[in-house]
Amino acid sequence: MTDNVAGKHILVTGATGFIGGYAARRLHADGAHVLALERTPGKGDSLAKAGIEIVKGDITDKAQVKAIFDKHQVQIVMHIAAWLRGRPLSNFQRVNVDATSHLAEISAEAGVNRFVFTSSIAVYGMHGDTNVDESTPLKPYGDPYGDTKIQAEERLKETAHNTGLTYVIVRPGMVYGPGSPGWTIRLAKWAKKGWLPIIDGGRGTAYPVYIDNLVDMLVTCATHPAAVGEIFNGTDDGPVTMGEFLGAYMEMVPTDRAIRLPGWALKGLAAVATPFFPEAKLSHYANQLCGRGLISNQKAKDQLGWSPKVSLKEGVARSEAWLRETGILE
Ligand SMILES: NC(=O)c1ccc[n+]([C@@H]2O[C@H](COP(=O)([O-])OP(=O)(O)OC[C@H]3O[C@@H](n4cnc5c(N)ncnc54)[C@H](OP(=O)(O)O)[C@@H]3O)[C@@H](O)[C@H]2O)c1
Repeated sequence: MTDNVAGKHILVTGATGFIGGYAARRLHADGAHVLALERTPGKGDSLAKAGIEIVKGDITDKAQVKAIFDKHQVQIVMHIAAWLRGRPLSNFQRVNVDATSHLAEISAEAGVNRFVFTSSIAVYGMHGDTNVDESTPLKPYGDPYGDTKIQAEERLKETAHNTGLTYVIVRPGMVYGPGSPGWTIRLAKWAKKGWLPIIDGGRGTAYPVYIDNLVDMLVTCATHPAAVGEIFNGTDDGPVTMGEFLGAYMEMVPTDRAIRLPGWALKGLAAVATPFFPEAKLSHYANQLCGRGLISNQKAKDQLGWSPKVSLKEGVARSEAWLRETGILE
């Protein structure tokens, strides 16, 4: 229970998605008046059934965003919506950068008290063996997702500088847990097919964060005085190796089947394939799968008193129970 958000009017973008859905329900349970943004008609139905108010709109449409703020009182914005994958590629710029920028401008005009932006550890680029904290320089490398998250952070800081908007940036790692499309459902399906990549003996670093731990951080950032104007990495305690994280899904099946390759072999294959698929950034991914660099969560612990309450063991157990309930795993 986070008393601080009780009674606050909080607009949650991306509420019909994985992280936003958890955040909206948690804020509602904590007594906030949540306005859950629904872009695709019907996707907010389960939130509405839970008693959460739905507001309709597409964040790329400035007039629609303005109309939401004209009609509703908004004290806090939790901006979680993003374009994560797929075409058209122009959506990365439109949704992640341009929409974040005008959402921040309109929030400032409306006198919003706090704008919490969900960025990503993708802003560090494929950092490989380098240890990373929030002061590490960001590294664009031509990947539309990571590069537009960097631009979105820059535009948000610029708007805050020009308008006085109070913001916080959270950079989550690999967000897993019940309902996670990328880091739970996909990995469980790949484990069943024997497709999980155990590269370099699984010694590379993984950056999992259990969904409830991340939502704890986002909710804390919505009101904590020490969060203002700050950036926090949203990762669980580590180090966790790729072998441990992916291996947990293999144990659920259970299976020994996986795509096992030495690091040098994957890097060689990536180098050969790169001229044919330059946009896939294969060499960057190959380096990252072998990379041993750590991402620190110390700043959130020191400044916010946050800590990841759900351990990897418990998070994996909860994920497994959900995967069986839903029939994704037998
Ligand atoms: N999942 C991870 O491991 C991870 C890691 C690091 C950072 N993040 C960040 O966390 C955030 C949420 O990720 P997620 O995994 O929850 O993604 P998700 O399940 O795909 O949800 C994305 C949400 O954004 C909404 N959205 C997209 N375009 C929109 C638009 N033009 N107007 C309004 N809403 C729009 C989607 O609505 P529709 O359903 O209508 O499309 C959906 O509700 C993103 O900012 C992502 O970059 C995620």
